[in-house]
Amino acid sequence: MEGKIGKQDMMHGSIFVLLKRYVENAYDHSTWIRLVESAGVGRTAYHMHEMYPTDELFNIVGKASEATGIPVYDLMESYGEFLVPDLLLVYKKYVRPEWRTYEMLLNTEEAMHGAVKKEDGRTSPPKLLVTKQGPSRLIVDYHSKRRMAGVAVGIIKGIAKYYHESDEVSVKRLTEPHAERVQIVVDFMNRS
Ligand code: HEM
Repeated sequence: MEGKIGKQDMMHGSIFVLLKRYVENAYDHSTWIRLVESAGVGRTAYHMHEMYPTDELFNIVGKASEATGIPVYDLMESYGEFLVPDLLLVYKKYVRPEWRTYEMLLNTEEAMHGAVKKEDGRTSPPKLLVTKQGPSRLIVDYHSKRRMAGVAVGIIKGIAKYYHESDEVSVKRLTEPHAERVQIVVDFMNRS
């Protein structure tokens, strides 16, 4: 991120491919077409290995919010939760089979976002500082100029769902959602 100030911020195609899949899954294909048109986006599809302007995502989600009355933050969270299984499929060779939610969160920064950067040097995933607080609590400190903490909370919930641990894992945002730095607390009821 820091190196890109002054230029338009871009994000990896996977994030956009999965946004399209999210809208088509929650609504339908014609809703997607209407949304991209109303957002002034000059394309109707994205490619996995391209980079696209982050603004397009915000414009599309902004229009979706206007159309549905659902707040942008809630849509971002729901989209973040949705994208986990597909994202883990794309990067499956970096996922260790013994991991569950706890280990995945502890390893995301180095193993997963690390792999994203290694596979494509144009990417700049957010910085996640994950610290243990006692045996059954993790604090996830999210840093990104893109201010997408809703997606961050959604991804954490999506990871718990992926491992069938939603009932034992509680995810709460501790700080203001639209900041560049947002703290999220994750409690594990099965680890105390
Ligand atoms: C604790 C779990 C995770 C959180 C909270 C998280 C959060 C996020 C957020 C919020 C973004 C949007 C960009 C931004 O905010 O600057 C993002 C980008 C991204 N994440 Fe993660 N993520 C997590 C795990 C993963 C995993 C497991 C993968 C799979 C390898 C992954 C792959 C990606 C990719 C490909 C991008 C786009 C990066 C770019 O274009 O610069 N994330 N992540």
